[in-house]
Amino acid sequence: MARDGAIHACQSCGAVHAKWSGQCAACGAWNSLAEEVVTRPPGALAPTRGSKARGLAFEGLEAHSPAPPRIVTGIEEFDRVCGGGVVPGSAILLAGDPGVGKSTLLLQVCAQAAMRGAACAYISGEEAVEQIRARAHRMGLAAAPIRLAAETALRDIVDALKREALDLVVIDSVQTLWSDAHEAGPGSVTQVRACVGELVRLAKRRGVGVLMVGHVTKDGQIAGPRVVEHMVDAVLSFEGERGYPFRILRGAKNRFGATDEIGVFEMGDAGLAEVRNPSALFLNEGGERSAGAAVFAGIEGSRPVLVEFQALVAPSVYGTPRRAVVGWDGGRLAMVMAVLEARCGLGFAARDVYLNVAGGLRISEPAADLAAAAALASSALGAALPQDCVVFGEISLSGDVRPVSRMEMRLKEAAKLGFRRALVPGGPEGPPGVALTRVTRLAEAMAHIGDATWDLGAP
Ligand code: TYD
Ligand code: MG
Repeated sequence: MARDGAIHACQSCGAVHAKWSGQCAACGAWNSLAEEVVTRPPGALAPTRGSKARGLAFEGLEAHSPAPPRIVTGIEEFDRVCGGGVVPGSAILLAGDPGVGKSTLLLQVCAQAAMRGAACAYISGEEAVEQIRARAHRMGLAAAPIRLAAETALRDIVDALKREALDLVVIDSVQTLWSDAHEAGPGSVTQVRACVGELVRLAKRRGVGVLMVGHVTKDGQIAGPRVVEHMVDAVLSFEGERGYPFRILRGAKNRFGATDEIGVFEMGDAGLAEVRNPSALFLNEGGERSAGAAVFAGIEGSRPVLVEFQALVAPSVYGTPRRAVVGWDGGRLAMVMAVLEARCGLGFAARDVYLNVAGGLRISEPAADLAAAAALASSALGAALPQDCVVFGEISLSGDVRPVSRMEMRLKEAAKLGFRRALVPGGPEGPPGVALTRVTRLAEAMAHIGDATWDLGAP
């Protein structure tokens, strides 16, 4: 029977185990199990006999009242990823590594929405009010009418939210919240789940948009955002490579919009600046394109983005050759290398292979296969691709190059940025000024690379 007692909860995925072990059997994380005391919430799991259930009133699909308009913050890159602004009464979790800029982004979102007339509050459990104020001043947001508070006690936060008529509330972060209904410490799975659950209920009941920060954690000390993903309406992840100023906002789950949109920001001295036209951002500008580089014409969400794939294939000095990849999927790299080896005779045994997507972007489209293959072959053969050439296409295990979606949009963007040639699968005509080299087999594409007769005719 339900008794108060100790459980062992994985702080990474939230799975509950009866006994401690070094590795979570559910998600495979090491050292992530922590003992937590669960207290049964009053009323939960109580015997149902003679209970005072209130019965359920069903409703139809026809609308009784028009849905309230979304809260538009005016930060377009953020609004678009949300699906056109924040839906009143929705709960959004912003997940990201510590230091990536989550507090900065949400402070800007909060301030901009407030300047457009929404009633906004920013509640931080990590920084003092004075610190937040200083940061807002530095970012030029001193005039924004937002309400600030530094608080971690859930009871006080909920109480305040019930009293004030707010449109938008930022909670930074869910791992600092603490509910006195539970004995477990702040940041534990039990606490994080209980607090987020309470805030989600409050959001729905009072129609306020709740934006919550969740730190992605590497060790098992505090619960990660994954343990509450199922409770919120949207999960946005905020990513950025260390050493690059670019930050990408991506929808991982969204009940009110598409999840393939990205928002691009640049971190500067005055906070995050929107990057409205990111297509040329990830290109290595200037100079000749060297061997091992291929420009991929990709699509992120609804926008085309051109990005350089850089490969290095070098003799290995180790017994087991190294394969390292940044910004792309390691499994996909292994597949492309296997196809190059099996279908084109390009061997990688005893050679180290490094693949890097420039600018800190993460590419997940299968359309990037051909660009990766071209970069690898270009490095292996020591032959540079033409400076003004873009590449895209999906590669199958049989060595075919398959057409990809939105080819015209990719080619149009390439043409706009001055590219005059494209190595592509069969499909629609390109825009004027871009000469297409169509390939249906990977081997054909490889024959073009390093081929002195890489002459695509007059555009
Ligand atoms: P922060 O929003 O505090 O990160 P998070 O809440 O995700 O932990 O951002 C921290 C980093 O951002 C910090 O290393 C400094 C940098 N930063 C700037 O470069 N410019 C700025 O204007 C601000 C506010 C922060
Ligand atoms: Mg922060």
